[in-house]
Amino acid sequence: MNENHIPKMESHNLNQSITIFAPATVANVACGFDSLGFSLNEPGDEVIISLSDSPGVKITKITGDDGKLPLDAESNTAGVSVLAFLKSIKSDQGIDIEIHKQMPLGSGLGSSAASSVAAVVGANELLGKPLSKKDLLPFAILGEKKACGSAHADNVAPALLGGFILIRSYNPLDVVSIPFPEQLYATVLHPHIELRTEDVRKIMRREIKLQDAIVQWSNLAGLIAGLMKSDYSLISRSLNDIIFEPVRSLLIPGFDEVKQAAMQAGALGCSISGSGPSVFALCTTRTTAQEVGDAMQQALTHVGLQSDLYVSPINGDGVSVVKQINS
Ligand code: HSE
Repeated sequence: MNENHIPKMESHNLNQSITIFAPATVANVACGFDSLGFSLNEPGDEVIISLSDSPGVKITKITGDDGKLPLDAESNTAGVSVLAFLKSIKSDQGIDIEIHKQMPLGSGLGSSAASSVAAVVGANELLGKPLSKKDLLPFAILGEKKACGSAHADNVAPALLGGFILIRSYNPLDVVSIPFPEQLYATVLHPHIELRTEDVRKIMRREIKLQDAIVQWSNLAGLIAGLMKSDYSLISRSLNDIIFEPVRSLLIPGFDEVKQAAMQAGALGCSISGSGPSVFALCTTRTTAQEVGDAMQQALTHVGLQSDLYVSPINGDGVSVVKQINS
């Protein structure tokens, strides 16, 4: 290990290697397109970051992606985030990245965001935490831009910070952590089809009627107020997306049946997770969340699609260190 590779930093005890877990996230949360997301306990990606004596950022291994993700650091979401982070702290420290995908790609669960967040948090930890967690957000967003061409933060911010995160502004970046009821559970159904965020964003409406915009922003305000006041009825009344869901749901076979099943089984609300195809519901207890999930899964089976089901409390912490191996 050569500390001269980190010219602008104080000398400190460098760790050789660190394993980071970054969770899946539900972006948009119905009415908060590109503005609101929350973090799940599982699934998530594990990324191992190691200091290297040879300069540069290298992706040494990727598992769980069926060979779909690039090993070239400048083309890889995690690699891009770490390169930008190192540039910003003026470090030429060599970094090796091993990515273990533990959630499906193109699922609407924030898969690329999880890898970016885990990688940049791991690099920051190994270099003695020159930046705060929140300061790492712009680097993780760059990874997201690389993955799908759009620098949205409603997956990366909750994966990084945990809980419900509102992106109040992108320029300048202003993210706000929203208190939420502890009993809240999320059900996420992942149908076995793949939708690329980049493609789904191309078919979105570009112009919105004022009367639709009013409904949408009133629902977002209602959802935030409902979360903060633990007012389940208000959360339920607000969990509606009248702008994007009607178009995007056409790409998800059985969406209407799945949503109807979730609502009949007692969900507070149900909509598309991120750009889909996953569908999420919010529920007031674990038991209801499981029943809602079973009903959603059964509805999807009726249209001939297999799926994975996740039932999770809201993850209030976001990214976490799994293991650290000291030099
Ligand atoms: N807000 C983004 C979108 C999330 O809906 O396109 C993508 O996961």
